[in-house]
Amino acid sequence: MKESKYTTIEEALKTAVTNVNLRGWVFRERKSNKFVFIVLRDESDIIQCVISKNKNQELFEKAGKLTIESSVKVSGELKKDERAPTGYEVSLSDLEIIQIAEPFPITEHQSPELLYDNRHLWLRSRKLTAVLKIRHTIVGAIHEFFRNRGYYEFDAPIFQPSMSEGGSTLFEVKYFKDTVYLSQSWQLYAECGIFSLGKIYNMSPTFRAEKSKTSRHLSEFWMAEMEAAWMELDELTEVAKDEIRFIIQEVLKHNQKELDILKRDIKLLESYTNAEYPTIKYSEALDILNEKYQMKVPWGKDLRTIEETKIAEHFKVPVVVTHYPTEIMGFYKPPDSKNPKEALCFDMLAPEGYCEIIGGSERSLSIENMMERLRKEGENPETYDWYFDLRRYGSVPHSGYGVGVERVVSWICGLDNIKDAIPFPRTMLRKTP
Ligand code: 4AD
Ligand code: MG
Repeated sequence: MKESKYTTIEEALKTAVTNVNLRGWVFRERKSNKFVFIVLRDESDIIQCVISKNKNQELFEKAGKLTIESSVKVSGELKKDERAPTGYEVSLSDLEIIQIAEPFPITEHQSPELLYDNRHLWLRSRKLTAVLKIRHTIVGAIHEFFRNRGYYEFDAPIFQPSMSEGGSTLFEVKYFKDTVYLSQSWQLYAECGIFSLGKIYNMSPTFRAEKSKTSRHLSEFWMAEMEAAWMELDELTEVAKDEIRFIIQEVLKHNQKELDILKRDIKLLESYTNAEYPTIKYSEALDILNEKYQMKVPWGKDLRTIEETKIAEHFKVPVVVTHYPTEIMGFYKPPDSKNPKEALCFDMLAPEGYCEIIGGSERSLSIENMMERLRKEGENPETYDWYFDLRRYGSVPHSGYGVGVERVVSWICGLDNIKDAIPFPRTMLRKTP
């Protein structure tokens, strides 16, 4: 294969060769009567290009036609220039115009809604490009984390016959002459997989008809889940802590430039990589809220966002909260035999207001208890008979958890809204483009 004579902007800046051939898009353009300045953008970086009328009138006129997001190939001489955005400038000797872009619908200071309407174009922004690169690192880190520890990747169906995380957020789908639901979690199927593979993980699209219009909920998101035979709550929460520390280390290793573009506090992120993350019980969380913040939460009520925020703020690092009230937990989260009012489950809460990023638990081994709780939720336990078989044929203690990928991306990137953590967000109010 013939080697391309083109390099990326990043490569050109790294090697600081004199003559460069680049291709990309016009990020900014500015004209005076003597010069055309173009900031060129490609997937790696931006760089200023200059065309002088005195040096080459024909080129100067051609460059004058360029509009924002026009696509070009350029050649020229790379020179240090302190005034240029990346410290270098290319003095152009050649310019090939691939397409002159129509007036770009996105200009500075646009409303968020216009940016979401033009998401297919806004993906090119420096902000979203940086987020997408960090997301790529996070997804890669999750695979690496589990594979390094001997977990097998295991897939579950997206069309499922019943709920796992509550009937109220199910998406119904017409399935030939029948009805099925889009997956709310990989978990129930994962529980089958551990009997052959022991420790497994997966990352896949997850669907919840969330009626809440918060900055933390999507109706389609990616969940990274794990499930392991023989594992109990103590070990489970340690795996979760190690996973989060590993993800942040990987982002710090690979994405300094992107964190910089997003103006993320790198020292703060570093502080999460070597810290111990505390584990407290739900009842201890209520004590902290009451004693330190005068927030009275009656035992038995789920923590709201403001309460989760306070708890994580209190510790300044991710916190694991265990033993939530059994009553408000999913049917598969087992009551603790020492105190059946509390379930053997946990959430991990991220600091800086990002709150719940992980949910997980041991899995109930009692068919009777699960049937009773399903009935209470208005479900037909018969639909789950295949699931109960796992408790009939060689039942073992086992546990698992799910990481909200966009919640983690949001937190690590310091985003205001989870919608910017995924290329094409889906919420109650947003299904296009
Ligand atoms: O806490 P959840 O509902 O747990 C489960 O689904 C378990 N079955 C997982 C398991 O044990 N295998 O969801 C797990 C995580 C949450 O902590 C949150 O980070 C994320 O998924 N999540 C959402 N992220 C974005 N938008 C939503 N609507 C989300 N709902 C949950
Ligand atoms: Mg949860």
